[in-house]
Amino acid sequence: MLIKKPTDIRPSEITSKDVYLNRRTFLGAAAAAGSALAAGQAFPAVIPKERRAKLDDVMPSKYSTDEKQNSYKDVTTYNNYYEFGMRKEDPYRYSQEFEPQPWSVEVSGEAEVTGRFALEDFVKPHTLEERIYRLRCVEAWSMVIPWVGISLADVIKQFKPLSSAKYVVFETLYDPKRMRGQRSRALRWPYVEGLTIAEATNPLPILAVGMYGEVLPNQNGAPLRLIVPWKYGFKSIKGIVSMRFMDKQPRTSWELAAPHEYGFYANVNPEVNHPRWSQARERRIGSDGGTGLSSLFATTQQPTEMFNGYGEHVAHLYEGLNLRQHY
Ligand code: MTE
Repeated sequence: MLIKKPTDIRPSEITSKDVYLNRRTFLGAAAAAGSALAAGQAFPAVIPKERRAKLDDVMPSKYSTDEKQNSYKDVTTYNNYYEFGMRKEDPYRYSQEFEPQPWSVEVSGEAEVTGRFALEDFVKPHTLEERIYRLRCVEAWSMVIPWVGISLADVIKQFKPLSSAKYVVFETLYDPKRMRGQRSRALRWPYVEGLTIAEATNPLPILAVGMYGEVLPNQNGAPLRLIVPWKYGFKSIKGIVSMRFMDKQPRTSWELAAPHEYGFYANVNPEVNHPRWSQARERRIGSDGGTGLSSLFATTQQPTEMFNGYGEHVAHLYEGLNLRQHY
């Protein structure tokens, strides 16, 4: 159970991109977000409005789907973020007092421009875009989520990778005091994920700072997380503090944990089953029975699409590659 503290809940704020990028206001919004749960119920049906801060100047994107979006509640209370626990409700429960600020990203490795950048400076040169994407988890459930983020390809361009940079590797914050799940050995910490440079410079991946037009909630990876919509969700690493350009393929956390189950590529593929379950179909969260226990018995399933339906944009990246071997 959470220990409840008396607290002042501030009214929600409307945050323009400039204001968002102004540290003090951003911190104010984040503090308001952090304090509300401490005041609140263990697991409220509706997340209090006060915890939410709007982002302004968000451009629409031609890459967005017009499929029915999941509810804010689905997306923010049914999560995988092992740093805060392994049950679906743990990230919501145990991340509320986490303060995702001040925050910086270390850029290193095979690039002309490297260094440590405050989050505000990292985001500032780029346009905030809304990208409504399908998220397909390797566990065979899916959602449709309206992210707000910046193009990873644009970010990468800015750091001028050298020709020796073949991969981009990300790491999550390692701070077991603030992330209780890191006190267990569920995974080897910090969480590591990576993409080939060709994947990372494709127009689809984004670094998300928000969702539903608002600042990203802690449980979804605040303040910065990757979204790669044609790959299983575990590639979309949360709480990013490091971005490294490498000449060699990295060993990612899930590969280290179970190499026969989770490969480096992790492209959504209905024809390559997980060793312990089929990937041919998926359960759209919220479509039948919501996210609770009853959803385990949901019957509304749909076929899994190759590359999660993004083949027209990404299939060319894998021409000539045996996707059964490179799973
Ligand atoms: N990133 C970190 N650092 N730790 C995690 O446990 N889980 C991954 C991914 N990113 C995870 C992570 C998995 S398995 C999925 S399906 C998605 O986050 C879930 O994202 P969501 O909770 O925002 O829907």
